[in-house]
Amino acid sequence: MKKNTVTLTDNRTGETYEYNIINASRGPSVLDIRTFFADTGMFTYDPGFTATAACDSTITFIDGTKGELRYRGIPIEELANKHSYLETCFLLLNSRLPFKEELTDFDLEIRHRAYLHRGLRKLFDAFPDNAHPMATLSAAVTSLASFYNEHLDMEDENEYLEMAHRIISKIPTIAAFAYRHFLGIPFIEPDLDLSFTKNFLTMMRAYPGGKMHLLPNGHAAIKEVEVRALDTIFTLHADHEQNASTTVVRGVASTGAHPYVAIASGIAALWGRAHGGANESVIAQLEHIGSVDNVEAFIEKAKDPNDDFRLMGFGHRVYKNFDPRAKILKKLQDELREELNLDTELMTIARKIEEITLSDEYFISRNLYPNIDFYTGIILTALQIPKSMFTPIFVIGRTVGWITQWIEFKKDETSKIARPRQLYTGE
Ligand code: CMC
Repeated sequence: MKKNTVTLTDNRTGETYEYNIINASRGPSVLDIRTFFADTGMFTYDPGFTATAACDSTITFIDGTKGELRYRGIPIEELANKHSYLETCFLLLNSRLPFKEELTDFDLEIRHRAYLHRGLRKLFDAFPDNAHPMATLSAAVTSLASFYNEHLDMEDENEYLEMAHRIISKIPTIAAFAYRHFLGIPFIEPDLDLSFTKNFLTMMRAYPGGKMHLLPNGHAAIKEVEVRALDTIFTLHADHEQNASTTVVRGVASTGAHPYVAIASGIAALWGRAHGGANESVIAQLEHIGSVDNVEAFIEKAKDPNDDFRLMGFGHRVYKNFDPRAKILKKLQDELREELNLDTELMTIARKIEEITLSDEYFISRNLYPNIDFYTGIILTALQIPKSMFTPIFVIGRTVGWITQWIEFKKDETSKIARPRQLYTGE
């Protein structure tokens, strides 16, 4: 009978070592090398963890070759088309979609927890005008650990779900306050009568007193189509298995730090332009390109091995096919073009880039396709959301994923402090 193992031979000595293969329920199996150092005296070498599974997980599955993404087994297309962001949050936290009454209760709990402690509000004043909202957001989330210093008892399900609900609920308020501080305008309190996503848009857009922009024929309203578009963006960002920021969250969890500190660390990791900061960089880059006539020259720059310039919103460590989230947004962008007035110069430039790269040998041979960030920027711009808020919006969507991964890590009895090894090449 064939054995479910791999045998490695050290060709220097002829010594062999046998390791078990652990089968995955979907996707690649893994080789269990936990005793490798003890057996051989060597470490494995894998900078950037391109072939290393650091945990087992039941939350999110990605097949990067097929361009497939599932949360708790459910395809992302089904969630984006048929379910709300809050249903997706419930799914991630509870491993199944909610029944109607459960969704109502969850929605009400999230609405009621959206308010911020009076003391926390003072923190915003410590930041200079024009502070990037990501800086304020990450500091405010760290400070939450001092307002809610319990939340470490993993024996008590109610306790850690309360912790999760609290952070999911407060993140949009903190993000909106950070933005309004950046503009130097008064904060708008959360409104219990509004859904998660509409509430966030209102806290961003409303004038003092909570009223919308005044037009000759009355107040402007937030269109349902805008709420649906942003809600879909939140759903598409909700989790993405062991990406850079989630790895940071798990790493901080492994030291026993407070969960909100772990989330704040995830926010810091997300900010970089190779990760969540890419959405802001995409629009900045489209603005810099400035005209369709310049597109070809910039694509040549991106292809030049002697030039550091990269096309923002292109490429992905895991997807070697179209990012399924990008496909959904591309379709959404087309659907919304009329209603949200999407026919802008930036969109024309984006289209031209997409058209050229999809048939260019450089991009085809490296499997470089537009990723989610290539499309979010255009849609968020149409929703009147400024560039500096794109990455905070990624944070709002991703918080549920981070906290679900934090809970999974804490419940896993085999989890250990994150402590990789190194190949020392110094003196
Ligand atoms: N433009 C031009 N060339 C690129 C790009 C790009 N955006 N991305 C990768 N390449 C080239 C790269 O130069 C390299 O070429 P060569 O083999 O000739 O040296 C090859 O493709 C492989 O690139 P890599 O850097 O080894 O790939 P990686 O898996 O380490 O990096 C990435 C993935 C996302 C960091 C990278 O593609 C990138 O910097 N993209 C732009 C930033 C971006 O859009 N990030 C958002 C990712 S999706 C949102 C999220 O999940 O955070």
